[in-house]
Amino acid sequence: MNLRQIVTTSILCSILIGSYLYLNQQSPQSKTSHNQPDQSQLRQQLTRIFADSYPSDITPTGNTVEINLVAAQSTVEVAGQPLQTWAYNDQVPGPAITAQQGDLLKVTLTNQLPQPTTLHWHGVRVPNQMDGVPDVTQTPVDSGNTFTYEFLLRDAGTFWYHPHVRGSEQVERGLYGALVVQPADPLPYQQDLTLVLDDWLLSQNQINPYFNTPHDLMHDGRWGNLITLNSRSTPGLTFQPGERVRLRLINTANARVFRPQFTGLAPQVIAIDGMLVAQPFPLRDLDLAPGNRIDLDITMPDQPTDAILWDYFSRLNIRLADISIQGPVVTTADFPLPHATQIPDWSAAQDLKPDHTFTLDALGGHMMAINWAIDKQIYPDITPLDLQANTFQKLRITNNSSRFHPMHLHGQFFQVLSRNGQTVDEKYWRDTVLLYGNDTVDIGLIPLDRGSWAYHCHILEHAESGMMTLINVN
Ligand code: C2O
Ligand code: CU
Repeated sequence: MNLRQIVTTSILCSILIGSYLYLNQQSPQSKTSHNQPDQSQLRQQLTRIFADSYPSDITPTGNTVEINLVAAQSTVEVAGQPLQTWAYNDQVPGPAITAQQGDLLKVTLTNQLPQPTTLHWHGVRVPNQMDGVPDVTQTPVDSGNTFTYEFLLRDAGTFWYHPHVRGSEQVERGLYGALVVQPADPLPYQQDLTLVLDDWLLSQNQINPYFNTPHDLMHDGRWGNLITLNSRSTPGLTFQPGERVRLRLINTANARVFRPQFTGLAPQVIAIDGMLVAQPFPLRDLDLAPGNRIDLDITMPDQPTDAILWDYFSRLNIRLADISIQGPVVTTADFPLPHATQIPDWSAAQDLKPDHTFTLDALGGHMMAINWAIDKQIYPDITPLDLQANTFQKLRITNNSSRFHPMHLHGQFFQVLSRNGQTVDEKYWRDTVLLYGNDTVDIGLIPLDRGSWAYHCHILEHAESGMMTLINVN
């Protein structure tokens, strides 16, 4: 090789190496850098949007709301018949707890059931050790024992409480109740009414004692044959013409999804999963899955008439309540529709890669044994997901089954960003989102409270068979 050949070869080599490096560097990142912002910058931006819009914690009122709840077997009138239930203070639903935002809630649970139990405060942001998840946040409360839950009520809204031990049996037997937290200056509704929706599977007029059957597990959990609202079947509700009412709907059923719809009334949705939405909207095709809440602002017609609350979810519409508007006309309370001002606009999160993808699947192949799994793991044999506190996180949930899974996150609220690749405009927080068969849903959140938080399907039979995992917020 002479000098010229050596020079030519090395020039060729460096061109080749150079262009190799160039190409490697330019693709595929160069393609995305034009369309997609840098991932860590985007995450910072999404985190900042939240910090700018969401107020840091509220000031305590200094008041304490104290309640004793005794969980015991009890015969309670349900749908006009005596039913052998498990109840709090001999009531189904359990006592409705009302308090004010900033109050300290102190609830002493006494367990007189034949099995251990706990209390979970669905949708409430509590310190981790008050969350009621057995063997994660506390040891279960054995029969004969008591446990005191104590926490500051940081959010105003519609919440509920229920056990987190053998939920598919304990909740089905009647252990659940509403928790309504009013803001410092409550809105001047003329009535504020909570309807706790449940369905019961009865056989021979008593609660069918076979829980977590293979049928329940292979399908969408245990659907009952008796629907009740505050333990009454198709109750009659009476309002006065012109009255402005806040109606809070809570779905405490093990598995049934409701799609509430009215004939004769035109409600506005003002809150989802407890807390106010950024922009109220007319109620239409909104599913109330197990765990979910919907709050409605309804102005009654200004003359006597009748209306009906339906469930349109099933093919045969179910009449849930008969509404009678009667009596003297009242002057409608006049105030603007309430709305939240602290909902961040996270539409830019579309361009962020998910931090984790949860897959939902059934496992097991034996005819009689089916387990529901998250990431092919069956609770309690799971590896928790670690998430960083105070930083925007995007989680993808992919349902690889044809069944419903209302997925519920403890301790944090989240926003649904997209469903099956389509951006959704949900300017509100949720704690439970329903995935229909084969859905993929992206959610965004900023974990605020450290600890080990349960993430599970709220079809209680699915959860009981393993469809639960833990998210560690560090
Ligand atoms: Cu209402 Cu972990 O649930
Ligand atoms: Cu499920």
